[in-house]
Amino acid sequence: MTHRTIFTDPDLAQFYELTPRDRADHTFCKELANGARSVLDLGCGTGELTVQLAEGRHVVGLDPAAAMLELAGKRQNGERVQWIQADARSFELGETFDLICLTGHSFQFFLTEEDQLAALKMIAKQLSPEGQFVFDTRNPNFPDRKTRCKEETLSQTQHPDLGAIESWNISEYDEVTQTLSFTNAYKQLETGEIFSAPSQIKYTTQDKVDQLLEEAGLYVETWLGEWTGEPYHATSREIIPIGRKA
Ligand SMILES: C[S@@+](CC[C@H](N)C(=O)[O-])C[C@H]1O[C@@H](n2cnc3c(N)ncnc32)[C@H](O)[C@@H]1O
Repeated sequence: MTHRTIFTDPDLAQFYELTPRDRADHTFCKELANGARSVLDLGCGTGELTVQLAEGRHVVGLDPAAAMLELAGKRQNGERVQWIQADARSFELGETFDLICLTGHSFQFFLTEEDQLAALKMIAKQLSPEGQFVFDTRNPNFPDRKTRCKEETLSQTQHPDLGAIESWNISEYDEVTQTLSFTNAYKQLETGEIFSAPSQIKYTTQDKVDQLLEEAGLYVETWLGEWTGEPYHATSREIIPIGRKA
């Protein structure tokens, strides 16, 4: 990631956790981590889940965005985690892990099959023999409208330092490339200053994810369609594979 994005720019990273979200993924991953002596959180972002996993075990949080890792390091218990600035498609840690997770749809930031495969091969390489992996990617066949305009997404919230903030996003989905191009924007109402940057995410079908996992040397034990535990089906919201090394 060389250009300025919502994660690499500190002005934008500060808004990442502004909108409270129900994080069923955190509940699920904490449960999955029971019994794991070590966890690697790939694309850990601001480390909200990472620090929760770090109680009583070795945990590494990896992300290429310095601005996100800076916020992560400042979290309560942030010192329990080993934070590493690196790219999930290519890194070397010299150790293996009992659980590797990528939450918050970090997988969708790999924009090509080549990038997806590279990251999955890294997971296979860094998993301990009995280790488990889990990640989420939005199902392209979930029947929602992915293209959105400003008016549909406009909301107001409060930033601890900047005061009242108006936020919105504008997104456009390309059916051919299965890529969503979007811009997240935040306006500080007191000054009128707008912070915004464009990003892209890739949508991938379950068949393709399955094929890439096999190619990477991983196999899936369970496919979920929601972090709350519902099984995957053709139009479920999420595609969540949970598995091990082949
Ligand atoms: C939507 S955030 C999710 C953060 C966190 N996992 C969560 O659930 O809140 C996506 C994260 O993926 C990271 N990311 C983007 N490209 C990446 C890459 N090539 N390798 C690892 N992480 C990447 C971004 O920097 C960002 O922190």
